[in-house]
Amino acid sequence: LMQGAMAKAVALAPDSWIPGGEPDPLIRHQHGSIGKPVSRIDGPLKVAGAAPFAAEFPMADMVYAAIAYSSVARGRIASLDVAAAEAAPGVVLVMSHHNAPRLKPAPLFMSDPKAAAGDSIPVMQDDAICWNGQPIAVVLAATQEQADHAKSLIRVTYEAEAADTDFEAAIAAGTKPSQFMGQPLHDKLGDAEKALAKAPVSIEADYRTPRHNHNPIELHAVTLAWDGDTLRIHDAQQAVAHSAWTLAQVFDLQPEQVLITSPYVGGGFGSKTLWQHHIIAAAAARMAQRPVRLMLAREGVYRTVGGRSLTQQHVALGAEEDGTLTALIHRGVTAKTAHNVMPEPFILPTRSAYAARTMLLDVQQVELDMISNTFMRAPGEAVGTFALECAMDELAEKLGMDPIDLRLRNEPEKDPISGLPFSSRHIAQAWRDGAARFGWDARSAVPAARREGEWLVGLGCATATYPYYRMPGGAARITLSREGEATIDIAAHEMGMGTSTAQTQVAAERLGLPMERIRFNYGDSTLPGLVLAGGSQQTASIGAAVIAAYNKLVAELLALAGNDSPLAGLKPDEVGSQDGGLAKLDDPGRHESYASILSRAQRAAISVEAEPPQPLETMHWSMHSHGAMFCEARVNVVTGEPRVTRFLGSFDCGRILNPKTAASQFRGGIIMGLGLALMEETQFDERNGRIMNPSLAEYHVPVHMDVPEIDVMWTDIPDPHTPMGARGIGEIGITGTGAAVANAIYNATGKRVRDLPITLDKLL
Ligand code: MOS
Repeated sequence: LMQGAMAKAVALAPDSWIPGGEPDPLIRHQHGSIGKPVSRIDGPLKVAGAAPFAAEFPMADMVYAAIAYSSVARGRIASLDVAAAEAAPGVVLVMSHHNAPRLKPAPLFMSDPKAAAGDSIPVMQDDAICWNGQPIAVVLAATQEQADHAKSLIRVTYEAEAADTDFEAAIAAGTKPSQFMGQPLHDKLGDAEKALAKAPVSIEADYRTPRHNHNPIELHAVTLAWDGDTLRIHDAQQAVAHSAWTLAQVFDLQPEQVLITSPYVGGGFGSKTLWQHHIIAAAAARMAQRPVRLMLAREGVYRTVGGRSLTQQHVALGAEEDGTLTALIHRGVTAKTAHNVMPEPFILPTRSAYAARTMLLDVQQVELDMISNTFMRAPGEAVGTFALECAMDELAEKLGMDPIDLRLRNEPEKDPISGLPFSSRHIAQAWRDGAARFGWDARSAVPAARREGEWLVGLGCATATYPYYRMPGGAARITLSREGEATIDIAAHEMGMGTSTAQTQVAAERLGLPMERIRFNYGDSTLPGLVLAGGSQQTASIGAAVIAAYNKLVAELLALAGNDSPLAGLKPDEVGSQDGGLAKLDDPGRHESYASILSRAQRAAISVEAEPPQPLETMHWSMHSHGAMFCEARVNVVTGEPRVTRFLGSFDCGRILNPKTAASQFRGGIIMGLGLALMEETQFDERNGRIMNPSLAEYHVPVHMDVPEIDVMWTDIPDPHTPMGARGIGEIGITGTGAAVANAIYNATGKRVRDLPITLDKLL
């Protein structure tokens, strides 16, 4: 089937895609492997248990690690007695600040394009304590049980100091302007406060979102060993190249002396970057001269891997009677630490959401003594859209308008803040198609109007949005064999999203080969490339690097083809790939297969490597994925229990490369959004900075019984300015979902809950 489809494909001009210029010719392909619901190529291995994860790689003579964590938030270790632990059965080493090797601080994320550390606190270099949960010692032992037992024998006392762990108190003491990726989180368009005061209709409200901890099913883990001064790590990673570089800085090594592989990852969501457990395991392995496996227990993930920080947001909207926004104010405070660079940038989605005549957007921050917060699926947008999109619902009700009509009334012509045109924005179509499919017409504008037995039923909606990113840096390599097989090598990641499958489809189509002839290698820091699996940008970043390598491949193949080829005399921009070879674009009869070109040139294979151009497309256009979210919620009048019974995500995310894996990405994001709306909350003891619910028993995430059938649909309109016409789909699902649920619950009950999660006690 695939080969038949291939034969109909038109040849592709190689170097047409220019960031800020010509579209990727692959956008026009309609009959190849792109757009087919191909099952994950790694799926059978995973269900058969044949896909090895970080804590499953065996190493000869390996020892197991257990970490002890501090129980105060600030101060110093007064005494640390490890004698009993050292004497315990099976123990090989106890490492603490008493004996740890000298290490350099880990470069923080964004301090360098290659940096990946979540915090910059020195690891066991002195007696200072900076957060409640900070690692203070590690035990290596012959078995995990022996390591855990020995850890329990460590005796520690502290000289605790007063810590800043109270958000409200910190706000009262003064906030500071916040920054994200070097840019101030502050935007101003006209005088929004004045416009708000004059607005015929206005609303103002405060919204709160709690801390969230990361809970990928695969725990963070490393299995690692030193070979002389070379460190080999089997890791659970979404930044192999960045993390290898960062560890090289810590251990004062050349970057090529740290090798990280991470072929399979059981979920990342922003958390599988570089944290202290990597440094601890590597340092201890070097001291003990033994390979080490360190798998964090679930509690360890809460203690040492950051999550989403809390926010307090104020939204004020002013409008004309017809719903035209005259003022949009979105401001508030988030908490971070002094030793990381990640605020929760909740105004990001507001910047390009609506054509308000005036805007004031601002994020302030306070610094607390706690674990460094970090990226968590749609950092900023997930909680920012909760506040903004609930406020839009509140305004719609005050105006007596349908909430979808209010949004469409304020659909911007161009980006309101940057003034750039949108690369592609069909959110109005997503709203219309979604409303029809969901049956939005059945919604009562009056809250609490529909009751079925003990249940009040309501419908709500919200806008979803996530930016298009393409991070610069890093090549891809294409190797083409005389047998007509192609290998793509790039240090990118597969965390279950379907990356390897979708990229195999794309490469097959670009090279004019069937999927079976493509091998996509990723998840290895020794491969070319510097692609972070973050910011929903892998598809575009890998795509751009593969385009660059492909352009080079075509030029080199033409040079090899020489004068005896049907392609003789043609320039790279006159040919494209078709049927396992190159063909003249407007005369496909002039074709020569890769096998023929390479055979005549007496070459077994050709291998090229190239770097993509800088992401200039984002300087020319405002680029975002869009969505319209629809929720049906029920609230029990006796118990207050909220239940989501139907959900639809209607997306406008450019071209969908693989509808099967894409639907799974959208649904996964929405499920995480249901958790954000109804369940997830890190219980943080503000007296001592201790996370009190560090387990899946007490930190609630949706399970199958909590998740209704989730319907997803999309416009499938290619973005003319991205590789393959695709935009990111990984994070958008969690955006808007919280507000859609809250708005549905309001419609069901007439109760407006503005602090997440919406638990039953808030509905009684
Ligand atoms: Mo995502 S939070 O950019 O892994």
